[in-house]
Amino acid sequence: MTDLPMSIAELQAFSETKMHKVQRKFVARGVAANWTRDRNRQKLDEIGVVPRALIDVSVRDLATTVLGDEINFPIMCAPAGGQTGSHPDGEIAVAHAAGAVGTLMALPVGSAYTIEEVGAAATGPIWFQHIHYSDELTEDFLPRLKPAGFTALILTVDAVGPFPMTDDLGETMSPGLRSFGSFLHRPDLLDEHGVTPWVGPNLTWDRLDWLRELAGGLPLVLKGIRNGEDATRARDHKVEGIVVSNHGGRQFDGGISSIELMPRIVEAVGSDVEIYFDSGIRSGLDVYRAMALGAKAVFVGRPVHWGLAYGGAEGVRRMLNILGSEFDKVMAYTGCTSVDQIVRTNVILPGN
Ligand SMILES: Cc1cc2nc3c(=O)[nH]c(=O)nc-3n(C[C@H](O)[C@H](O)[C@H](O)COP(=O)(O)O)c2cc1C
Repeated sequence: MTDLPMSIAELQAFSETKMHKVQRKFVARGVAANWTRDRNRQKLDEIGVVPRALIDVSVRDLATTVLGDEINFPIMCAPAGGQTGSHPDGEIAVAHAAGAVGTLMALPVGSAYTIEEVGAAATGPIWFQHIHYSDELTEDFLPRLKPAGFTALILTVDAVGPFPMTDDLGETMSPGLRSFGSFLHRPDLLDEHGVTPWVGPNLTWDRLDWLRELAGGLPLVLKGIRNGEDATRARDHKVEGIVVSNHGGRQFDGGISSIELMPRIVEAVGSDVEIYFDSGIRSGLDVYRAMALGAKAVFVGRPVHWGLAYGGAEGVRRMLNILGSEFDKVMAYTGCTSVDQIVRTNVILPGN
């Protein structure tokens, strides 16, 4: 392996040698027995892609839109907290990298840099990911998004508190890790460690309109929808987007892989709601697999951290470009010149 990674696996291997051991574990870990985290990878790997012959693929267009935001390829930076633990520039570096390659970043609620700082640094589209910790915090916070330049609100719905971990991180924090920068003006809402107490959310479907109103009418995306019934409810509540995600297996162990969920969600809501995918994407081939099963675009989480650790904004840019160029090659080999040509029959699921 050279110092210049050519794949996400190489990027991970190289970056992990540079990361503090607590941060390395924090990024890589799932929860409990890591059953869900590992299944995400296994099930993606079981999907075959169908090559096509004698099609003119000399010009290919990877661009798409997500809720009206234009992106150069369908690969976006997931809201993955703790970014200053991987590089001091943290979310600012990710905003620079995403903007430089023409894609979107989602800022995690617990970011070190404030929403205003990231808004000012961004040159591409930015969405904001929220967890509802308390009414007071949500009310203080969401009205700041639109003025800072955020174009959608992602509400994470698959995290209702800490889940047991076998991979004990110990008491140590990763050096450099900072969080909840946006809340520092309200120390009364943070605990003695500077984080928000997580007592279990009191948010329910009937309160989504309240959230939207607070966010000034921004489109709403629910992250962590894992069954057809919830997807249907989301559509009925006029939610604009869904991220089919199991949080990379980091919140709950025992759920099936994200990719296995895709057909159920697509069957439930079709194209009424924009569907995005995350959990386990490590190559352009994986991006293609998820899109063939109905994703409009995908998010990557851990690879953002590995890119940061590799070299700040430059490292994240490299990570995105590796995935983008791999995805481009898969499109060529499957006879696709635009992303809307990636359809269900371009992949083969196990047993078929
Ligand atoms: C270090 C780390 C921190 C994360 N923090 C959050 C978070 O604050 N909010 C959230 O919705 N998802 C969070 N996630 C989950 C990601 O948004 C995403 O769902 C997941 O990482 C996708 O799986 P992948 O890492 O296999 O790409 C985090 C992920 C990582 C790796």
